[in-house]
Amino acid sequence: MRVIDILRKKRLGEVHTDEEIQFLVANYTQGAVPDYQMSAWLMAVVWHGLTEAETFALTAAMVASGETLDLSSIPGPCVDKHSTGGVGDKTTLAVVPILAAGGVFVPKMSGRGLGHTGGTLDKLESLGGTRTSFEVSEILAQVQSIGACLCAQTEHLVPADRLMYALRDVTATVESLPLIAASIMSKKIAGGCPSIVLDVKVGGGAFMKTLPEARALAALMIKIGEAHGRRVAAVLSDMDVPLGYNIGNLVEVREVIMLLQNNPWVESRLKALVLLLAGAGFLLAGRVRTLGEGKVLAEEQITSGAAFEKLCQIVVSQGGSSDYLHHLLKAPCARAKWDIKATSSGYIQVVDAETLGLVAMNLGAGRVHKDDRIDPAAGIVLRETVGQYIAEGSTIATLYTACEMTARQLASQVWEAFTLGPKPPDLKSVIYETIGLDPL
Ligand code: URA
Repeated sequence: MRVIDILRKKRLGEVHTDEEIQFLVANYTQGAVPDYQMSAWLMAVVWHGLTEAETFALTAAMVASGETLDLSSIPGPCVDKHSTGGVGDKTTLAVVPILAAGGVFVPKMSGRGLGHTGGTLDKLESLGGTRTSFEVSEILAQVQSIGACLCAQTEHLVPADRLMYALRDVTATVESLPLIAASIMSKKIAGGCPSIVLDVKVGGGAFMKTLPEARALAALMIKIGEAHGRRVAAVLSDMDVPLGYNIGNLVEVREVIMLLQNNPWVESRLKALVLLLAGAGFLLAGRVRTLGEGKVLAEEQITSGAAFEKLCQIVVSQGGSSDYLHHLLKAPCARAKWDIKATSSGYIQVVDAETLGLVAMNLGAGRVHKDDRIDPAAGIVLRETVGQYIAEGSTIATLYTACEMTARQLASQVWEAFTLGPKPPDLKSVIYETIGLDPL
């Protein structure tokens, strides 16, 4: 078999055999196929797509490129959760402790933020001293002892995806449904959990801009999971508007603490999505019979304080301090703080997630390049969101950063992210639909 023949085949829009895909991925991972050949194949895939069978073969080849987690030593049901990424999306930090507090085991491997979207690892590491890099044996030991681990993907898990994703990032080949589905699902399958809850984000601040695209991605990921004997459910949720009032790292952890401490000021969209995702996790794990019961069980973990206690245990087990979590709500944040004032009055119609994600990144909360350092305290706290009335001169958001000049320079973009109107808008639900769960 020759790589050049495989490339020519996809350039002509022909269908690969499983063996061809296996050959390409295995040889690329071992360094025998150079980046320029893999780039050519990826671009041909972006143009011509992959059939379902090819996507299954690609996922299987990616899983086979490295080690997989054997969860047979975990003494109970295991669930994994994945979000396709968004602005202000801190759901993992809340859902994982809720599930673990409710008797479900969660070996959760997460990613870092890139571009305008945030990542769970950066948020967790903003609590100085919290470790996120573990060997497989350490992940298993922590999950066995406290029910959950929040960590980075190990180096040996799906190395093909690590290499291919870095290449896709610099060759404009990220935006391909089969490539995204294979990339996400190969990591979930290698992660070993029999049940997987997917949160597919839809809207301006997400990869999938439209509902039909998001539906197609969710359906494909579910089929891939099922082909590997996994139970998969998907939630399609809004990402036109940031999730919650906080965008950044420490500020988002504070919001999670408020949620887990049952603080009534937590944004209702954020809480609704967290309860749905956790409820879906309980359902897939067999802890409850219906999604409604799952949501009730999730709420109970919050009201009893068990979920917050579990988050503290996870942080302590990973080298952080629970004192810090207990006092974080009162702790001072960044060195510079800048209030954004409304320059007109009206009802907020839109708060543009992508714009605010980019502002937060430029304040220091995210990275423009993969190796940039994060400022844990940088971020945006929104005072108002969609549907609320704001009067001219009132504070709509506060920016936190290391240097006041940066905040001043970005202030106008924050105000431009808000669209006002004379009447309250029709409020849409944060949850568009679910697949593989009871009707909403
Ligand atoms: N997240 C992933 O892990 N892979 C993709 O291709 C896109 C988003």
